[in-house]
Amino acid sequence: KYEKMWMLIGGGALLIFLIMLGVGAFYQGTKPPSCLTTIDPQNVEAHDSFKTENLGLQKLDDHQYVVNVIASAFNYDFGTDEEGNVVRTIRIPTGSEVMFQGTSKDVVHGFELAGTNANMMLEPGYINTVETTFNKPGTYTFVCNEYCGTGHHYMTATVEVY
Ligand code: CUA
Repeated sequence: KYEKMWMLIGGGALLIFLIMLGVGAFYQGTKPPSCLTTIDPQNVEAHDSFKTENLGLQKLDDHQYVVNVIASAFNYDFGTDEEGNVVRTIRIPTGSEVMFQGTSKDVVHGFELAGTNANMMLEPGYINTVETTFNKPGTYTFVCNEYCGTGHHYMTATVEVY
């Protein structure tokens, strides 16, 4: 008599669990969280934001900036400065609101700016963005927090807030 009751409770719990799992997988699977736009990873330069001249820091007004970045193993490409030197450090005035916008040419890379709330993935095929406001001067370091190959731990860049 009791066995039958426990079988029903056990079976019922299992059924509820499977339904929850199915619903969760379905909704989460069809709605990627922060992937707004798709992009061809073989040809990211075809997108305006990732043309060579638009990489790195772009000023919108006195307090608002956009930073465009292309990640690839094992580098963050912020373009070149006026003298043609590769940009490794982005210089931003204190109080700036900055939107980082990036994609990847190869595998998934991380894009975490230590000491700020900026932390996102850069994925091939997608453009991801994250916004942050720099209220404190200092030097902040980007780290790739997704393992992407042998040079993973060399993948860094810096932001200097002055
Ligand atoms: Cu790029 Cu790890």
